[in-house]
This record gives sequence, structure tokens and C-alpha cells, in this order.
Amino acid sequence: MHVPFSLVDELDRVLKSAAAAAGFDAAAFSPEVRVADAQHGDYQANGVLGYAKSRKQNPRALAEKLVAALPAEFTQSTRVTIAGPGFINFTLAPGSLLAWLRTYATAEQLAAGAAADHAGQTWVVDYSSPNTAKQMHVGHLRSAVIGEAICRLLAFTGARVIRDNHLGDWGTQFGKLIYGYKRWADPAALAADPIEELERLYKLGHHATPEGSPELEEAKRELVKLQSGDPENVALWKKFSEVSLGAFQQIYDRLGIHFDHHLGESFYNDKVERVYGELTDIGLAENSDGALVVFHDEHPRFSRNAERPNPFMVRKADGASGYASTDLATALYRTEHFQADGIVIVTDFRQSDHFEQLFLTVKKWFAAKGYRLPQLHHVTFGAVTGEDGKALKTRDGGTIKLKALLDEAVERAFAIVSEKNPELPEDERRAIAEAVGVGAVQYADLSQNRSSNYVFSWEKMLSLEGNTAPYLLYAVARIHSIFRKAGATPGEPATESAATEPETPTEIALARKLLKFPDAVRLATETLRPHFLSLYLFELAGDYSTFNNADRVLVDDPVIRARRLLLCSRTLLILETGLRLLGLRPLTRM
Ligand code: ARG
Repeated sequence: MHVPFSLVDELDRVLKSAAAAAGFDAAAFSPEVRVADAQHGDYQANGVLGYAKSRKQNPRALAEKLVAALPAEFTQSTRVTIAGPGFINFTLAPGSLLAWLRTYATAEQLAAGAAADHAGQTWVVDYSSPNTAKQMHVGHLRSAVIGEAICRLLAFTGARVIRDNHLGDWGTQFGKLIYGYKRWADPAALAADPIEELERLYKLGHHATPEGSPELEEAKRELVKLQSGDPENVALWKKFSEVSLGAFQQIYDRLGIHFDHHLGESFYNDKVERVYGELTDIGLAENSDGALVVFHDEHPRFSRNAERPNPFMVRKADGASGYASTDLATALYRTEHFQADGIVIVTDFRQSDHFEQLFLTVKKWFAAKGYRLPQLHHVTFGAVTGEDGKALKTRDGGTIKLKALLDEAVERAFAIVSEKNPELPEDERRAIAEAVGVGAVQYADLSQNRSSNYVFSWEKMLSLEGNTAPYLLYAVARIHSIFRKAGATPGEPATESAATEPETPTEIALARKLLKFPDAVRLATETLRPHFLSLYLFELAGDYSTFNNADRVLVDDPVIRARRLLLCSRTLLILETGLRLLGLRPLTRM
């Protein structure tokens, strides 16, 4: 018997064919299957209402006709009821719950089930993308954490994912940095903390080159030399990128992030000419005081008639490329070279105007040239503030360094772990603390809707209660400890073959929640909002804990024990799979 991974898809299919059998206009009928509130059942179909309305028919009568046309083997395994004006509710029978739990028994089987959603597609995800020679800030951390979760969700649902770190490695600041570097570089400081030293040199360079000074002319000459390929300056610039990337990678390693590419802005230097040419040829870009710009007259803010005209700056008046130019070239490269079906760019909401203009321009440009248009998504997120509501800063008002931030999270987690498990050897407590501390920072970000600002609170993110990483990691560790006590391994076929259908209300509630994993993954992936998966995991952990309090697992009766161990091992599987999708590292002990 084939057990479908997504019950929503299965119900959609069954209802469509029942509709055809019941004489509905199949082309006009969409079942609209959704996950139901648990008290109404597992799923509900709302599509009859709209269909009946458009035909001025009685929805309740139509729903009854549709239900009567459902095949008998379906109604044997699923309870179907009609509610209100014509909603149809579906509740899976315990036998169906068991069949699903048996079929999806490993991470690979779950992934194979989920893979249908994006199979055959290529997605490029542009995330973190900090600027070289500068400290990564909290925004780049949010982008890294959210972007990595999105990559994992897309890959899990079948996409080929290309992780691209679009470094800000080009621009006028390099003139001043080279100027400062050539005069004041301190090799020892550069080796010890490269980014700190490069920031110092940039500041020195900046202060030494005031507007109108001969020093500024000298800094500009350094920039021109770099741009025209002067070997010394190019070598310096390469070194800046390399040492910056080395420092960034230390953070990425702790977050489990490995980029496939670091195609920064500089990579597109020789690709912007084509953009200028094509946008001019198709009449999309125009000359405005020497600059090449694009207006979108249908848009209130980007039209030439806007109160404060704000065109998309394809080429600056001095002939230089800028952020818009490289992003246009980047969109084309990702489409042509990577054959992207989807492009996701993760930055804070302040860049919304830029990406709105970029996407409008790309759509018109690709349409005029007949290029295939990938899906374009700007994934935004809000600001991070301290508990005082102000931007997150160090005590003396400086920007928070990410390494220090992660270190503090791990230190705090170490104190908590040591208090809970004083008997564990220190190196083990340290390893646990790294996963819990870093996981707490990641999860604090992924557990809330990314669009809202969030208040950074150590207390909250490290709490063992509530929707936090420690709570979920602890839930996982507790299930492992049940298996240790039972002397069993999770997922052992020998134990599981004895398992019977879930029986008690808490067993059934837990099983029903487990079957909603596909829906949570799909919702999080389709909306590019990982918090939908976090919320699901948190609720699952809650249902598990209710089950665990009501139904003792390690009872003598071998059948009840097998049945409950099966529920434990699937809860474990789905919690671990879900946490990994969010980029966390589940632990067996905590
Ligand atoms: N470097 C930019 C910043 O730090 C982010 C780049 C995002 N990606 C892009 N293709 N523009 O804000």
C-alpha cells in the first residue's frame, strides 16, 4: 500500500476525483485542503463554499454530494464530517496514523517524501553577504541564520541549492583603505585580528584625506590604480578579501554554514557593460544628468513624477558602477550561469526599495530580451534591539562583535549545563554548551516572524521553558535518555514491528501532530519563513510532553511498550530533522 507523505496532496487528489464523479465542473473546483484546528479533525476542505457561491447553489447540499462520492476504502480509513455551511472535516483513523509512522521512519524517507515540492529546480540563495575589511554586524548574522535555514528547507524539499555569499568587496572605500594601509599597517595586529586592523587603517585613511585635500587626491589615485589592475594594489585588495573571509568563516563554521561561492560585487566588474548596453538598447534605461537610470512610471515612488524622484541608478554620473549595477549583472549571471529557477536574497528591510526597483527592472529587461525569468524573492527581516528598545550595542556604545556575542552565549550556556549536569566531564559540558549557546542565538532568530523587530534577551533565549533552543534540545536529549534506559536504539525495526495503532487520547494526539510535519515544512518553505517550522516543533514537543506525562513508556507489557517507543522514536526523528533544518545541532545528552 502506498502511504502518501503529504495528506494535503492526497486529500486534494481524492476530492478532485470525487468531485468529477459527483458531476462538479472539475476545472472550476478547487478543494482548498488545509490543516484543521485539532478539535475539528486533521484537515479541512473549504473549496465547496466558493464553488457553490459562484454557481448560486446550496453549499451544504453540494458538500453532501461530494462526500457521498468518496470511495469506500477512503471513508474506512478517514472520518469525514460536514460542518457549518459546508466545510468538510477529515480525521485520520489510528490505522492510518500508524501506517504513516511506519512508512516515514528515517530522515532519508522524510526527505524523499518532501522532495517532490522542488524537485528538478535550482535555487540560488544570497545571504550573510557582509562587506570585506569591515566587521560583520548583527544584521549579517540574522541574514546568515535565516538564509541557512531557507537553504536547508529548499534542499530538503528537493531543490539544488547554491549558497552564494555576495560579498561587498568593491567600492570607493578601498582607495582610502589602501592609502591608510601603505602608511600605517601593523603586521602583528593584522595577523592577530585582521578586521580590527583593517577598520583602524580605514579610519586613519579616512581622517587623513579630508574633502579637497591633496591627500584625498592621492587616495583617489590609489583607487584608480586598483581599478586599472595595478599589481601592488590588486594584491593588497586580494589580501583584504582573504583575511576578511578567513575571519567570517570562523563565525560561519560555528553556525554550520558552508558557501558554495563567494561571488562578491567585484566578480561583476566586467559584466556591467553588457547591462548598460542592453538596458539602453531596449529603451529601459535613460540618461539623466550623465547618469544612466531607470524609472518605473507605474510605481508611485519610482516614477519620474514622484514627489522626490528616486530612479534606479544603473550607472553613476562619473561612469562608475554601483550597488544597482552589480545587482543587475548578478541577476543575469544567476539566471544564465546557474540556470536558477528561484533567487532568494536575504537582507534587512531597509534595502526593500533597492530590491523592489531591481526586480521591476529585471522583469522588464528579461521580458524585452526574451530571457527566462526566475522567481525573485527579497527575504527581509527587522532590526535587533536591546531590551531598552535601542539598537544592540556594547556597554560602551560600540557595535557588538559577533564572535564576542557567540562566546557570551556559549559561556552562559556552559553555566546552565554545568548546573544541570555537574557530573559530566568538563570537555563534554563545553561541547554541549557550544551547541546550546550558538543554537539559542540561532533559534531566537528563527522562532519569530522575521518581519518583526526583535528584542535580544539572554534570559529569554537561554530559558529551558518556552519556545527556545534549550527547551527543544532538552526534549530531544530526554527522548534519547528513555532509549538508553530501555536499552534500545531509536527506530529499531525489531522493536517497532510489535507496535500497534495508537490508542490513548494522548498517543493519538501525538501521532496526529507528527503527521503534520510535511505541512509545517511546506508552509515554512513556501513563505520562506522558518518560524512556521519552529512553531510546529515547539507544539510537537508540547504534545510529546503531555503524552509522556500521561502514558508511561517503559511498561512491562511488550505491545504497549513497543507502541509507545515507536511514538518516542518518531518524535525524536522529527524533532531532530526539524532542528537540523533550522541549522541547529541536536544533542543526545544535555
Ligand atoms: N553587502 C550588502 C550589505 O552588507 C548585502 C548584499 C546583499 N546581496 C545583494 N545581492 N545585494 O548590506
